[in-house]
Amino acid sequence: MMVNTLSPYVYGTTRLGDESIPEQERIETALEVMNQDIWIHTCHKYGNSLDILCKAFKKEPTKVPKIIMKIWGNTKQELIDGVKENLDRMGVDSLDMGQLCIGGEFAESLAEGGDAVTVLQEIRESGFIKSFVYEVFPWTSELPLKALQNGSLEGIIDGFIFYLNPLQRFAANELWDEIQKTQFPIVALRTVSGGPVHKLRDIPGFAWVNYLQERAVEVAPIFEKSGVPTWTEFCVRYAYSFPNLKATTGSTSKIERVHDFLKATENVKPLPQNIMDEIAALQYRWSDEVDVKAEPWTM
Ligand SMILES: NC(=O)c1ccc[n+]([C@@H]2O[C@H](COP(=O)([O-])OP(=O)(O)OC[C@H]3O[C@@H](n4cnc5c(N)ncnc54)[C@H](OP(=O)(O)O)[C@@H]3O)[C@@H](O)[C@H]2O)c1
Repeated sequence: MMVNTLSPYVYGTTRLGDESIPEQERIETALEVMNQDIWIHTCHKYGNSLDILCKAFKKEPTKVPKIIMKIWGNTKQELIDGVKENLDRMGVDSLDMGQLCIGGEFAESLAEGGDAVTVLQEIRESGFIKSFVYEVFPWTSELPLKALQNGSLEGIIDGFIFYLNPLQRFAANELWDEIQKTQFPIVALRTVSGGPVHKLRDIPGFAWVNYLQERAVEVAPIFEKSGVPTWTEFCVRYAYSFPNLKATTGSTSKIERVHDFLKATENVKPLPQNIMDEIAALQYRWSDEVDVKAEPWTM
């Protein structure tokens, strides 16, 4: 399974699309990431990050990394056309891992082991998209749960991909329990939940939505008590405390912080059980009280 070949740290490319940072600096960051021989995660919605990647790939064509990319579509043609357009923008021929952002009939068909399975199998066998992970949010957890329980993902979906960090565990409780029971592979997104917990807690507006500031208030004392020296290390160790975690995806515009992520993902030690238990209790509560009731796409 491709998911077993992911680098432990996947570089998220959102910060490459920040046009307030000089383009040359962003290209340099991309080139440094490419020098590390790690996977990247991208999407055509991250500002002009695909164009920055294209420029970096042209400079170092032998160092083009393996790519996870978000993909949409309800039919084989829609899925292929969307991916082709974005790969063309980067000057790349095929996609290593497609992140399925699906809902409605296509997701229902996948859950029931229907035509969607055939479509995904055909695309994978063509080599154009070599593997798939399935994106999950609290408000879309129902069909992925049904699919997992029905066994319809076996051999076709390598894992689930969702926000997983000390402030966000974006598979709803029932799906999360099933993922843990079956040890279905996970790819984590948003490694540090947007930045250091004390900044999220203390600097007005640093957290892009209020609930993250409120969660930072609850998690900061747990982080402090743990004695772990940095928030990046704490978050990486949190994610890797789950044995079915295959990679964690974090972004930064700064080369030194790329190295912080890389260092934290070498020889990772799980967090102590009491720390994990305290965070788990918070996350079960947040999931039921906030996440599943949220207006979709507002979190
Ligand atoms: N639905 C989806 O598929 C989805 C949604 C969200 C994210 N993602 C993926 O996950 C990746 C990461 O998500 P994210 O950017 O939202 O969250 P993140 O990686 O948790 O946070 C990145 C932010 O934290 C800052 N940061 C990183 N390391 C830091 C450090 N050591 N000290 C201080 N600040 C630090 C970065 O700013 P600087 O640039 O200043 O370092 C950046 O603003 C994205 O790039 C994307 O690939 C996917």
